[in-house]
Amino acid sequence: MFKRNILITGGAGFIGSHVVRLLVNRYPEYRIINLDKLTYAGNLENLKDVENASNYIFVRADICDFEHILEVFRKYNVDGVIHLAAESHVDRSIRDPFTFAKTNVLGTLSLLQAAKICWEGNYANKKFYHISTDEVYGALPFDGSLFSETTKYDPHSPYSASKASSDHFVRAFHDTYGLPTVVTNCSNNYGPYQFPEKLIPLFINNIRHGRPLPVYGKGENVRDWLYVEDHAKAIDLIFHQGKINETYNIGGFNEWKNIDLIRVIIRTVDRFLGNPAGTSEKLITYVTDRAGHDLRYAIDSSKLKNELGWEPSVQFEQGIELTVKWYLDNQDWLDNITSGEYENYYRKMYGRE
Ligand code: NAD
Ligand code: TYD
Repeated sequence: MFKRNILITGGAGFIGSHVVRLLVNRYPEYRIINLDKLTYAGNLENLKDVENASNYIFVRADICDFEHILEVFRKYNVDGVIHLAAESHVDRSIRDPFTFAKTNVLGTLSLLQAAKICWEGNYANKKFYHISTDEVYGALPFDGSLFSETTKYDPHSPYSASKASSDHFVRAFHDTYGLPTVVTNCSNNYGPYQFPEKLIPLFINNIRHGRPLPVYGKGENVRDWLYVEDHAKAIDLIFHQGKINETYNIGGFNEWKNIDLIRVIIRTVDRFLGNPAGTSEKLITYVTDRAGHDLRYAIDSSKLKNELGWEPSVQFEQGIELTVKWYLDNQDWLDNITSGEYENYYRKMYGRE
């Protein structure tokens, strides 16, 4: 008999795998149900170290499949949800907006509806925690201003529009049905197990192979980077102590212009590979800018610090060293993904379409 039954969606992805690992190890008294469709971004290799834990279960399901979700809620008596499953890459959303609307909006709605049906009349000790992004707030100028929890939504990409829509549905379920919800909006994450289509793992991998580093536009866009384990710890804290119907911003107070960040990555990878400093600078290749490319994101996470005492614990210099080292030490993980080998493996194992 477990004290709680927590459904984590998207647990086979980048951030989700860190959240699953943290909760499985920290709370043996909880049953952690990892529900994931295993899209191209989902990889059970990310969870090899916890897959045999007695408080861990993996369920392969699509969050858009409402009947299946309802069945999982009932079968496992789910009393808490940490919802991370999503399509998460802006460039893909530009090419294929429908998939983003379907998964991020309708998938979230299907989870909300299942929670409402199963919890209605007994909302005590229940929580529906929705993980969102700072990208819903739009773009900031270079004037030192920050996104706060009250910044008006102004999404520009199909990805951020779909996340914004899902956030509105979550809040609507609180206001309309009293569902106990909480939403967090986090800045860019980095660290181990991130799919190598995102800037940092893509560039580490390209430097290792001597391939071009495609810098969008002039490389002047700014992002606020947070080490993924710090995000996972914030999620744990907010799941347990966050107030119902609140929003918390999560960020690193760690803004970097893309081109400056790229130079740090180049320096670090060259050093680890034993190359003379500056060797890989020649790989920098300026390419056509991303359509609708937001200029700057930066989060004010002082509410989370003042109310719940959270602060990032990993400094950027340390985080980037850990990250570069991890990707260089885990070349098989990268190679399996980039060669399509793991896609074939899971197609065979789980009949992925
Ligand atoms: P990811 O792309 O690495 O992982 C997404 C996971 O969701 C994968 O395991 C995938 O298989 C699963 N998934 C996708 N569609 C699904 C479906 N229909 N049904 C079930 N599972 C499905 O994403 P990530 O970077 O780990 O992001 C996780 C969450 O955090 C997302 O909601 C994202 O919007 C949010 N977020 C990410 C960042 C970031 O920097 N990566 C920052 C802030 C917020
Ligand atoms: P990304 O990792 O895709 O995250 P997001 O778009 O969600 O912030 O990109 C981070 C920044 O790096 C963003 O400003 C776009 C830029 N970028 C490049 O310049 N080249 C690339 O190949 C990629 C993937 C991103």
